[in-house]
Amino acid sequence: MKVAANLLLRHAREVITCAGRLPAGAAKADFHPGPLGLIADGAVAIADDRIVAVGRTADVERAVSLTAGASVVDVGDAVLAPGLVDAHTHALFAGDRAAEFSLRVQGAGYAEIAAKGGGIAASVKALRAAGDEALRAALAKRLDAMARFGTTTVEVKTGYALETGHELRSLKIARSLGERVVPTFLGLHAVPPEMRGAGDGRARYLSTVAGKMLDAVLREGDARFIDAYVDGPGFSVAECAPTLERAKSLGLRARLHVGQFEDVGGAEFAAALGAASADHLEHVSDEGLRALAAAGVTAVLLPGAAFSLGQPMPDARRMRALGVAVALATDCNPGTSHCDALPWMAAFGVRQMGLSTVEAWFAITATAAGCLDLPDRGRLAVGARADVAVLDLPGWEALPYVLGSPRALATVTGGVLREWG
Ligand code: NIG
Ligand code: FE
Repeated sequence: MKVAANLLLRHAREVITCAGRLPAGAAKADFHPGPLGLIADGAVAIADDRIVAVGRTADVERAVSLTAGASVVDVGDAVLAPGLVDAHTHALFAGDRAAEFSLRVQGAGYAEIAAKGGGIAASVKALRAAGDEALRAALAKRLDAMARFGTTTVEVKTGYALETGHELRSLKIARSLGERVVPTFLGLHAVPPEMRGAGDGRARYLSTVAGKMLDAVLREGDARFIDAYVDGPGFSVAECAPTLERAKSLGLRARLHVGQFEDVGGAEFAAALGAASADHLEHVSDEGLRALAAAGVTAVLLPGAAFSLGQPMPDARRMRALGVAVALATDCNPGTSHCDALPWMAAFGVRQMGLSTVEAWFAITATAAGCLDLPDRGRLAVGARADVAVLDLPGWEALPYVLGSPRALATVTGGVLREWG
């Protein structure tokens, strides 16, 4: 029996399925391309939003019958890869902070700028002033810019709203972009500007987030995860615990900003909480990493932020050696990583963070999807969601080899083909 298909991508010089399993922490095996499941002269057949066949073109053509009006794309010199998965962004923002970046280039510190009312507070002001349509259009434009590099799934955090009504509005706008977006509630990003300074504003904000704001977020049902900035310039473990433990008891899983500037015990906390991921990790102890490995928490590393802030890169090799699963993400945000090019993060991973090219592919596909609780994404396999990137690369090894980022000639997102040229 042949299986019906309405989209066939065929004759790709190579299909990179990422359908195998990376050995955990086995340094030597990490360089072997076996887990990438490579197929020469390969094809992917799709029916609506699902993959129905993957293999050599001749085999796939034998296995499927094309429906009337089906599209057939000859991929030729490009490669087919799973649609890339960006597991950490703040892509819902208004305006820019180019002037701050310029001050940083001249020597000013991130915390110093934030203390003067810049930083996250500046983006909060801009987001609150922006209308729904303008915000939605800006996010849609960013998602398309990301798709031009092959990204078809993007985690999007709130956290530039910091007030119940605006947080809900942010979640709703993120949600309105459909299944491409995985919305995360980040109320604990910073104390909002109107509650800083004298008095007990900080404590009041913490109890608002743990109570009224979390209640509203759960009631509206728009967030898939909850995040908190567990760091020196953010919040302590003790400050975050009430909100995150309550969220957990109500079924909302955590992914946390941990140790971007300081190790305040965030990794151990993420492990104890059973978080989906601990992100950043520029500053983390081996004990913290061992705790993450033991609890199965994925490290989501953000080289764009380290690069932009002039910090040393997080030590991905060490993490893998200690058995931690590693994903890479853009951290797309107006302050520390104005970046939409996920493959470029993979190049950083290989050139500066000690990952093998095989590990880097997993870090922007299957491992990233896994930590978003989306096991049907990030792999090209029968039954997986039809998310595919047609990348302008000569083969899998070229991911970190081309300078800049490889372009996507086309993407398929939930079965919908878009050609980017
Ligand atoms: O991941 N450090 C906290 N959050 C962001 C930066 C947000 C901002 O500066 O606007 C980050 O780097
Ligand atoms: Fe971030």
